Amino acid sequence: MTSAISESAVRDALGRVDDPEIGRPITELGMVKDVTVSGSDVDIELYLTIAGCPMKSTIESNTRAAVADIAGVGNISISMTPMSDQQRKELKQKLRGGQAEPEIPFAKPDSTTRVFAVASGKGGVGKSSMTVNLAAALVQKGLKVGIVDADIYGHSVPNLLGCTDGPTVLDDEMLLPPISHGIKHISIGQFVEGNAPVVWRGPMLHRALQQFLADVFWGDLDVLLLDLPPGTGDVALSVAQLIPNAELLIVTTPQAAAAEVAERAGSISQQTRQRVAGVIENMGAMVMPDGSTMDVFGTGGGQIVADRLGVILGHEVPLLASVPLDPTLRSGGDAGTPIVLDSPESPAAQQIQAVADKLAIRSDSLVGKNLNLGVN
Ligand SMILES: Nc1ncnc2c1ncn2[C@@H]1O[C@H](COP(=O)(O)OP(=O)(O)OP(=O)(O)O)[C@@H](O)[C@H]1O
Ligand SMILES: [Mg+2]
Repeated sequence: MTSAISESAVRDALGRVDDPEIGRPITELGMVKDVTVSGSDVDIELYLTIAGCPMKSTIESNTRAAVADIAGVGNISISMTPMSDQQRKELKQKLRGGQAEPEIPFAKPDSTTRVFAVASGKGGVGKSSMTVNLAAALVQKGLKVGIVDADIYGHSVPNLLGCTDGPTVLDDEMLLPPISHGIKHISIGQFVEGNAPVVWRGPMLHRALQQFLADVFWGDLDVLLLDLPPGTGDVALSVAQLIPNAELLIVTTPQAAAAEVAERAGSISQQTRQRVAGVIENMGAMVMPDGSTMDVFGTGGGQIVADRLGVILGHEVPLLASVPLDPTLRSGGDAGTPIVLDSPESPAAQQIQAVADKLAIRSDSLVGKNLNLGVN
């Protein structure tokens, strides 16, 4: 025997279905066009943000699963049509929190997102690898994390995350970033054909970065990581200008000569007045199959950089970790699966998890804030 289902039970169930790209219930986003109930059968019409929405089948199966949970439900049919331009415009307004113009949410004084720009003096020291692994480790701790691939010429984040999706374009001022391993990310690599080079001058790099920060719907992130190009160039300065409260994470190898260059990269924070949250030493001693270790790049560089920056900047700069050289870290990057997910027990992954532990506090923590405690 089948019993009648109430429309409100169906709408309640739909309220538990999140749009996967936006992370809010489809009922709140104006995505439920109509619900018709006849007896125990349910007919649901949904709006999709765009016609070719990559999440179409996920939304459909999540909707079906939520409605199937209603006791006594019979046939469930779901149809989907794209939103009109007007509806997309309204959704954009809603996602922006009523703001008419795009703005950088992370630059607002009340933002609780911690922003870390991952920088280095030299190229190839592992910034991008550290960025994606740190992001994955933070997601595993339950945080909401985004990555901006700020290395416009040398973009690599989508590959390291094994993601070939582009953003969903609501309109030219609102992009929904792809999500891979739970990490929202945006990269110029999602906008160029194949492996075409990007040949832009400083102002265009600045504009691209601004769009990545303001026109992308990031939602309420706990942590945003920016993977910078090597050195102290235009992009590092743009970041300082666009998000003055961004902190720097300096990546260096253990080599003394590299330490000197890394120190230079860190010390630009003196001019930009950014905090250096710490130093990550990467490519440390490799553990050989017989259990012995091999210092390919020497030792001690990370501590040298941390100590010297501490003196220059006048605040403690911790050495957050020393991540060993590990072929699995490299192969994980090539395969698009960060080592912290693939081999969480490896020494390299554990060092990166230790960095995540140290950084996983929100910016509304009391660190460095004047508490204004009156004595009474
Ligand atoms: N700890 C490690 N063990 C083994 N290989 C590593 C390690 N860290 C990084 N690599 C490898 O070193 C190479 C450079 O790393 P990555 O691209 O992360 O550096 P980068 O600093 O972002 O480089 P660029 O300056 O070009 O942006 C990659 O092939 C990466 O897989
Ligand atoms: Mg890189």
